[in-house]
Formats: sequence, C-alpha cells, structure tokens
Amino acid sequence: MTATSGKRWSDIYPEVGTEPLAIDRLMSPDFYEFEREKIFRTCWLCVGEIIDLPEPGDFLIKDLPVCSTSILAVRGYDGAVHAFHNMCSHRGNKLAWERRGKCVGGTLTCKFHGWCYDTAGRLIAVPGQEKFFNLSLEDNGLTPVATEVWQNFIFINLSPRPRWTLREYLSGVAEDLDGFPFTRLPFAFAYRVDLKCNWKIAVDAQNEGYHAAFLHKRTIGDIFSSAQDPYVDPLDIKIYGLHQRASLPGYPPNSKPVREIANEFGKRWSMSRTDDKLGEAEPEDVRFANYESMPPGLNPTRAANWTFDIYMIFPNFWLGLSNGAYNTHQWWPMGYDRTIQEVRMHQLLPRTAGERFSWEYNKTINRDVWLEDFSTLEKTWEVLRSGAKHHFNLQDGEFMVRNFYRAVNEMADF
Ligand code: FES
Ligand SMILES: [Fe+2]
Repeated sequence: MTATSGKRWSDIYPEVGTEPLAIDRLMSPDFYEFEREKIFRTCWLCVGEIIDLPEPGDFLIKDLPVCSTSILAVRGYDGAVHAFHNMCSHRGNKLAWERRGKCVGGTLTCKFHGWCYDTAGRLIAVPGQEKFFNLSLEDNGLTPVATEVWQNFIFINLSPRPRWTLREYLSGVAEDLDGFPFTRLPFAFAYRVDLKCNWKIAVDAQNEGYHAAFLHKRTIGDIFSSAQDPYVDPLDIKIYGLHQRASLPGYPPNSKPVREIANEFGKRWSMSRTDDKLGEAEPEDVRFANYESMPPGLNPTRAANWTFDIYMIFPNFWLGLSNGAYNTHQWWPMGYDRTIQEVRMHQLLPRTAGERFSWEYNKTINRDVWLEDFSTLEKTWEVLRSGAKHHFNLQDGEFMVRNFYRAVNEMADF
C-alpha cells in the first residue's frame, strides 16, 4: 500500500487518529516524572549486545539515570547473561565503573571495602566478616533484575514483576524478524551525542521520511525522495502493540562521483540500492540472495524499490535493517530536557580495498546524515518551551510520530 494507491495510513489504522497532537503535557517536567515510573521502570529496555559478552565473566554496564540506577550485565559460567543493579550490598557503592570488562578469576570486587561477588551475583567474600553482626552472605548478593535476550540484544526490566515476558512485549516483532542475521553482523562503528532536548523530540526525527528531501538534501535526500514520491511515503506500516515498523522505498539517485565508487563496491554501504545486493550471498551468509528468502518482516511487501525497514521498539530502541547491515538508535533521557543518543552500525568488515572504500563511505555518510538529523533537535527544543505553540500538525506520512505518542500516552496513563 503506497501513496500512489491513494490510501492513507490513518484510514488503515483509524485508532491512531488525525487530530493535531497536543504537546504541552508531553514536554513538561511533571510528565517526565510519569515517564520515568510508568515507561522506563515498566517496559523492557535494551541495555547492550550479547556479542559484547562472548566469554563467561565478561560484563558490561549501562548507567540508567532515568531509572536512578546502573545495570551490570554479566555472562555467567552457565552461558546465560544475568543482570543486576550495579550496587554493592555493603554501603551501596557502584560496583563496576568501567563500561565493559572481565571478572578477574570469575569475581567482581568492590573498590570501597573489598566485598567480592561471583558472576551469579552471589556475595562470596567479605573482608573482616567476623566483625559484622550475623552477616549472611547468602542474603546479601547483588540485587537481580529481570533479564532476557532477543537475538543480539540484552533487555532488562526494572519492575519486580514485569507485566510481560520479553517475547510477549515484542508483540510479533521477534517472529517477523526470525532469521535476520543479527548476531552474525559484527559491530562496525558508533556515534554518541549529548543533546539539549527532550528525548521524544530526538525519537521523532527517526520516525518519518518527510524530512528527507529537505534536511538531507545534501546527503541522501535523492535516494529516498523522487518526483513521484517526494515525501517518502512508506511502502508499508505495521503496528505491533506499543511498537511499529515502516518499510521505506528508494529511487534511482542522482549521480555523485564518490557515491558511484562506493556503489560499485557497495556491499559495505548500507544504503546502496537493494538490487545491487541481491543475487550473491556473502560467504558469511549475512545477506539474502532474494526477497523470498528474507524473514517476513524484512521488505515485507517484497518491493523492488525497497531500501530498508525501521522498527521502533518502544520506548527507546530503534532498528534500521537493510540487506546485509543494520544499525540501532537509542535515546537515554538524562532529565526532561537532556538526552544521550547512541547509534551503532553493524556490518561485515571489509576484505578488499574496494570494500574498505565502501565501508568508509558508509561510516562518513551515516555520520553526516545523523548530524543533519541532530541539527534541528536543540533548535526545536530552544523554542518549543516558549509555550507559543500547543500542538504539532502531523501529516499522514508522519504516522509513526503520531503513533509513538499514542504509546507514550497509553503507558503514562495506565
Ligand atoms: S561499599 Fe562495597 S565494600 Fe563497602
Ligand atoms: Fe533523518
């Protein structure tokens, strides 16, 4: 179903509505406190990638100021990943301070007074234990957090009794993407920005293509926008409970000399045209040779002019999936008016000079595109708080923006 079919997404999903979107409440400091409790402490959150924890004893930490905690995720000797509040049971010191590390001898020791824990979170040694008063090691392990893994992604849930299992929470996303080579595509590069804006303003920028012809006119606008489809109407949209997916088209782009070379060796360029990437599978089996072999959730309409699909996993995890590469965006609120945005690209590393060129092109063009995306966010926030406007006017192609706020409101009011 495309714009040319004359359909509107709001007709297909009337429950999402067409009214102007009221923003006063959504952008207020009071509402942020609601979000912390009703969204971030209730929903499943992706805190890291399993490929970063290949061996027993490997750990990563994820600081979550929005939930007033830090999470420690450890690969246990049982092979499973366990997550805990990253906090010592003695006097509350943060246990691990480095972003990633390895438990020396299978243990983690608090830097303050040397209390020592194993990878299952058990307290195994307390210096001067005899001076304490009936201290039970058994009762003073690390505080566990609900943890589940989907594909490459480690999710945690801070609720003492999560409302859903992770699979229930994902509402069909896992089934639709079963077979996508998430764990076979290595980490390639990342960017991290500290933004002075509400986290939802930053989310919105990745949830519509209307801006491509304008904000991205110097970089990739011509790939996504064409005379017959200037505002990048999605090929398909699907709602999965709180989450959603859009499948995005692409068009024969203008000729640009550097891009031509990257295209020629285009297997390391995530936005090179789809048809360049069919017909020949990578030796590592990370690229689909034809549309029929793709999971149902990848290029769901099997369109010839498909470029990539975006999955917005509520509340703050975004996947961009193409044939042979994927990237993730995450937004971490640091307050109602400050957000850390993290972007990570996954693709095979280059094997030849040509692939290296294409890979470097991918790194720089994505950086430039994201810098363009980031450029409006602080400017928007700077004036949004004036209170001069009370709503956003959204067109049908900004369906995912509207639907994201529907999920925000639904969770906040629950
Ligand atoms: S706070 Fe950790 S050992 Fe004292
Ligand atoms: Fe953009």
